[in-house]
Amino acid sequence: MIKKIVLAYSGGLDTSVILKWLQEKYKVPIIALLADLGQGEDLEDAKERAAKIGAEKVVVKDLKVRFVKDFVFKGLCANAIYEDKYLLATALSRPLIAESLVEVAKEEKADAVAHGCTGKGNDQVRFEISISALAPDMKVLAPVREWELKTREEEMDYAKKHNVPLKTTKEIPYSIDRNLWGVSIECGVLEDPWREPPGEIYQLTTSPEKAPDKPTYLEIDFEDGIPKKIDGKEYKPIDLIAKLNEIGGANGVGRVDHIESRVVGIKSREIYEAPAGRILYLAHKEMENLTLTCQTLEFKALVDKKYSELIYGGMWHSPLKKALDEFIEKTQKNVTGTVRLKLYKGDCIVVGRKSPYSLYSQALATYGKGDIFDQKLAKGFIEILSLPLKVKAKIAPPPKGGVPPKAAKEK
Ligand code: ARG
Repeated sequence: MIKKIVLAYSGGLDTSVILKWLQEKYKVPIIALLADLGQGEDLEDAKERAAKIGAEKVVVKDLKVRFVKDFVFKGLCANAIYEDKYLLATALSRPLIAESLVEVAKEEKADAVAHGCTGKGNDQVRFEISISALAPDMKVLAPVREWELKTREEEMDYAKKHNVPLKTTKEIPYSIDRNLWGVSIECGVLEDPWREPPGEIYQLTTSPEKAPDKPTYLEIDFEDGIPKKIDGKEYKPIDLIAKLNEIGGANGVGRVDHIESRVVGIKSREIYEAPAGRILYLAHKEMENLTLTCQTLEFKALVDKKYSELIYGGMWHSPLKKALDEFIEKTQKNVTGTVRLKLYKGDCIVVGRKSPYSLYSQALATYGKGDIFDQKLAKGFIEILSLPLKVKAKIAPPPKGGVPPKAAKEK
C-alpha cells in the first residue's frame, strides 16, 4: 500500500493530468515537486495550478546552480556529447531531478515517487535507475506507461472532465524539454526525418539566414577546465551560460538535427538547440588540445565517450561514472587559459588560444628562424618505428596452394 507520493511535476499537460489521475487512483496525498532548471517558464502559474488540481503541497526547488556546477560542468569537462551531436541537456537534468525527488520524499515521509515519462523514451530509464541507486526501496510510479489515455486529445478530454486547469498559452504540437543547457524538441511534423524542421520550433536561436552579416568574436577564460569569464569579465556559472545562449542564439549557433539511437532500441528524430553548449564544448576541447599531452588526450577521448554514454543511458549514479569523475578531474588541472571564437551565421569556430600551461612551443614548431628541433634525430626514430613493418615485408608470400616459407633468414 502506498501512503504518500511525490510527483515530478512540470506544469505541462502530462504531469497536470497525472496529478489528478494519481489522486483518483491511490486516494493518498500527492506532493508536486516543481524543479527550476532554467526552463524559462512561469513557475508561479504552474504552482498555482498544481494547488488547484489538488496537490497537498507544491515544493518549488531552484536547482539551477547545482545543475550547472554538479552536472553541466562535469559534462563539459568530459566533453560530453552523444553520437557526436547531442550535448545531453535533457539527459544531464534527469539524475538531478531524481535526487531532488528522493530528497523531498524523505523530507515529506513519502514512500513513492512518480514521473510523467512514456514507456518509449530514455527519461524513464534515467529517473528509475537513479532512484534505484539513491533509494532502493522507493516505489516508482509511471502513470503514462499504464493508463488508458493514448493520445494528447484523450488527455485533454480527461483534463476537461476533471477540471484540471491547463496552461493558458497555446499548446504547440511538439514535445519540448528545456533547461539552461539547451532545448530538446520532438514529435509532430518532426517525426518525418526527411522534412526540414519548421522555423517556429526554435526557442533559443535565430535562423542562420537572419543572423547578423558581421561575425561576433568572443573570448572565454577557463580555470582548471571550468569557464569563468567572457571577454575578460567574470560571470557566475548560470549567468555565463545565459550570456552565451544569448550571443550564440543571436548568431544562429547550436542547432542540431539528429537521428538518435535511444536506449530502448528506437531511432528517433530529435532537434536540439544549445548555443552556450556548442560554444563551450568547442572552447573547452581547444583548451585541452593546448594543455594536455597527446597521451592524455588520446586516453581521455575514450573516457569521454564512455562517460557520455553513461549520462545518456541513465548511469549517472553508477560506481563507474564516479570512478571516471576522479580521472577527469585530475586531467583538468591546468586546463586554464583563453580561447577566442568567431561566431557567424550558425557557425562557431576557434580562431585563437593561449595558456600559461600551453604545451605549444613555437621554437619546436617553427619552420622559420629560431628552430631548436634537431631534425637529424628523426632518422633513427623512424627507423625503429618502421622496424616491425620491415621485418614483415621481408617474408615472401606463400605460393598459391603451397606451403608457407621457412622463417626469414636472419642477417
Ligand atoms: N532524446 C533526448 C534524450 O533522450 C531528449 C528527450 C526529451 N525529453 C522530453 N521529455 N521531451 O535525452
